[in-house]
Amino acid sequence: MEKRKFKIKTTFIDRKQEVRLLHNYLEAQPNSILFLYGPKSSGKTTLLYRLCDELAEDKSCEVKFLNLRETFLDSYDDFLQVFFKTRNNRENGLKVSTKRQYSMFGLFKLDAVVERMLKGKKEDPFLIMEKEFHKLVKKGRKPLIIIDEFHKLSGIYLPEKQKTLITELMNFFVAMTKESHLCHVIIASSDAFFIEEVYNDSKLSKTSAFQNLDYLFCADVKEWLSHINRYNEVADFSLNEKDIELIWETVGGSPWEIQYILERLFEFPLTKIVEKIKKERAAMVADWCFQDETNERKKLMKSFLDHSVQPIQAFDPYQRSILGQAVHDNILFYDPVEGAYGMQGKSLEWGIKEYFGIRPGKK
Ligand SMILES: Nc1ncnc2c1ncn2[C@@H]1O[C@H](COP(=O)(O)OP(=O)(O)O)[C@@H](O)[C@H]1O
Ligand SMILES: [Mg+2]
Repeated sequence: MEKRKFKIKTTFIDRKQEVRLLHNYLEAQPNSILFLYGPKSSGKTTLLYRLCDELAEDKSCEVKFLNLRETFLDSYDDFLQVFFKTRNNRENGLKVSTKRQYSMFGLFKLDAVVERMLKGKKEDPFLIMEKEFHKLVKKGRKPLIIIDEFHKLSGIYLPEKQKTLITELMNFFVAMTKESHLCHVIIASSDAFFIEEVYNDSKLSKTSAFQNLDYLFCADVKEWLSHINRYNEVADFSLNEKDIELIWETVGGSPWEIQYILERLFEFPLTKIVEKIKKERAAMVADWCFQDETNERKKLMKSFLDHSVQPIQAFDPYQRSILGQAVHDNILFYDPVEGAYGMQGKSLEWGIKEYFGIRPGKK
C-alpha cells in the first residue's frame, strides 16, 4: 500500500473488459501466445502490472514478468543475462529496470553449474526454460511468461546461427503453448512493425491471439474526471461538466495526457493548458512535415484531417514508407488486425487542425 502523501495521485481506471479478457486467456489450458498491442501510452504496461497484482493472490500461478523497456540489449549474452538470473548481474553493469516491483533480474534462476554451462554455450537456454516449466507443472503450478516491449529483442542473433533470437523465441513459445500446453505467454509491444511482422507471418498468426489495447472509453473518462477526489485524491479542485467535456475533446481517452492536465490544473486554468497542448501538437506535426522536401508528409497529414482513421486501401503503395515513418515517429498508429492507420490520439488530431490553420470557432 502506498503511504506517501501527494496532492495528486495516479490512478487506475476501469479496464474491466480487458482484465477479464486476460483472465479468460489464463483460465484456458495454454494453447496460444497472447499479443497485447496498442498505441504508445495506451496503458499496456499498467494493465499487465494490474494483472500481476491480481495474480499475486493466486498461489497456483507462477508469473515470470520481464519488462525490457529500460533494459540494455545488444547481444546474445545480454539476452542470457536478462532471462537467466545470475549472481553477478550488477557487477556486469547491466542496466535493468528496478522502477516497478515486478521488473526483476532474470526470469529464470540458475544454479552455479548450469549458469557456467549456459555462459560457455554448452547448455541450451530453451531447454533450461522448458525444464523449469515441467518442474512447475509437476508441482501443480501454472507458469505464465509476460514480456513487455518484446520488440527490443529484435536485431539479436543466435551464436553461430543465421536465426534471429526473436524467431527462435517465438518458435519456442509456440511449442510451449500450442504444442505442449505447458505455459501461458503474454507479449506486449507498441512497435507496429514488430506486430505487423508477427501478424503477417502465417505460422505465427495462426498460433497467437491478438488483443488491441486502445485508449479509455468516453464513459470511463467522464466517470474518472467527475470524481477526481476519489480517483486521484485531489482535494484542491473539482471539474464541472464543461471542463470534463473540454478535456475529453482535447485528449480523448489517453490516460497519460489526462493525468498531465490534472497535474497542471494546480497552476494554470484549463483553457490555457488545452491551448498549450494543441500548440505543442501542431509544432510536432509541423516539425515532422518540415523534414520532407517533397511535401509528401504534408499531403499525408492533410488526408487525416477529415478521417482520423483510414483503411490501408485508402493509400497508394508508394506511400508505404512514409506511413511507416509516421508510425515510427509516433504520429500515426497502425493496427495490422484492422488493417488501418490512425492518428496517435485525439490531441494530435488537434495538432493537424492547428497546423493547417483550421480553428473551429475562429476565423
Ligand atoms: N487504466 C488507467 N487508468 C489511469 N491511468 C492509466 C491507465 N492506464 C495507464 N495509465 C497511465 O498512463 C500512462 C501510460 O501507461 P503505460 O501503461 O505506460 O502505457 P503503454 O505501456 O501502453 O505505453 C501511465 O502514466 C499510467 O499511469
Ligand atoms: Mg509500456
